[in-house]
Amino acid sequence: MSDIPLRKIDHVRFFVGNARQSAFFYRNAFGFDVVAYAGLETKVRHEAGYVLKQGEITFVLTSPLSEQHPESKRLITHGDGVMDIALDVADVRGAFAEAVRRGAKPLREPEALEDEHGVFEAATILAYGDTSHTFINRDRYRGAFAPGYKPIDPERYQDKTAKPVGLAAIDHIVGNVEEGKMNEWVEWYSKILGFSQLVSFDDKDISTEYSALMSKVVQNGTGRIKFPINEPAKAKRRSQIDEYLQYYGGPGVQHIALITGDIVKTVRAMRANDVSFLRVPKSYYDALTDRVGTIKEDLAELADLGILVDRDDEGYMLQIFTKPVADRPTLFFEVIQRRGSKSFGKGNFKALFEAIEREQAIRGTL
Ligand code: FE2
Repeated sequence: MSDIPLRKIDHVRFFVGNARQSAFFYRNAFGFDVVAYAGLETKVRHEAGYVLKQGEITFVLTSPLSEQHPESKRLITHGDGVMDIALDVADVRGAFAEAVRRGAKPLREPEALEDEHGVFEAATILAYGDTSHTFINRDRYRGAFAPGYKPIDPERYQDKTAKPVGLAAIDHIVGNVEEGKMNEWVEWYSKILGFSQLVSFDDKDISTEYSALMSKVVQNGTGRIKFPINEPAKAKRRSQIDEYLQYYGGPGVQHIALITGDIVKTVRAMRANDVSFLRVPKSYYDALTDRVGTIKEDLAELADLGILVDRDDEGYMLQIFTKPVADRPTLFFEVIQRRGSKSFGKGNFKALFEAIEREQAIRGTL
């Protein structure tokens, strides 16, 4: 299928129980600036929304203001999580019409919202589970974010700007789907959005003594938008994907990988802000040089911070994963720095999944 011309990920919208407090978390722990707000004070009656930015990353945090909100049940089913991955397109009507013609389920017909700052266009289709994609165009819009949103008055939010930690852009966003459904969703992205498959990992790549999963990565024509899709595979015990599906109440976004140009600096700052990361055993670092060869970073520092490294023919990459950011063992984040490698850290899968299993064992969900 031909590509629907998607320019980039415009923003990720999270539906959460308390957007005001989530904004505080992403601001003070992850270093985002809170730049716009929608809610009762801006004449939005049904929900509160906070827009957070760091580098090219935009997160929107939304909470319902009453049970009448059409999405309020989401909080019971899923807890806090990603509701929508919005995609910037030149032609919202065209992208939506073509996606629906190819079989996408429409959620919101194209709308041109207007205020004194211009015209903002949006239309939404359903993806895996209750996760959606909104096609957005803001070429003719000059406001803070979208109609209904006002720039944040720092005096009314907090009296100093956030300390950025160096997060620059979204590298990839991973979805978890049910066993046997991965290929269906890979085909969906291919058929509906014209994505192609970049790489696939089977249960031989991603298994430990106890659990296994399979993963395929799809990307758009420019390679700018990458969505790995995971499904659980049969194993002795329950995989982290099964645990996710149980606690999220179905398929959804598992993790968002955020790029930094200096992972040591970023992770040091995030740790200082009390972000909890997964730890691998010290033995991981004893074997590291043999596995990845010479790298620019100081090994002792990587070990101290718990940063993982992997290499392929094109170079190497450094990565680390947070623990889940809410009570349910669902959404977490990855911080990633690429030094040539375009890979996803296959060489780290085993150490990483064993680290996750230790956490699962503590939760009694392995
Ligand atoms: Fe990842």
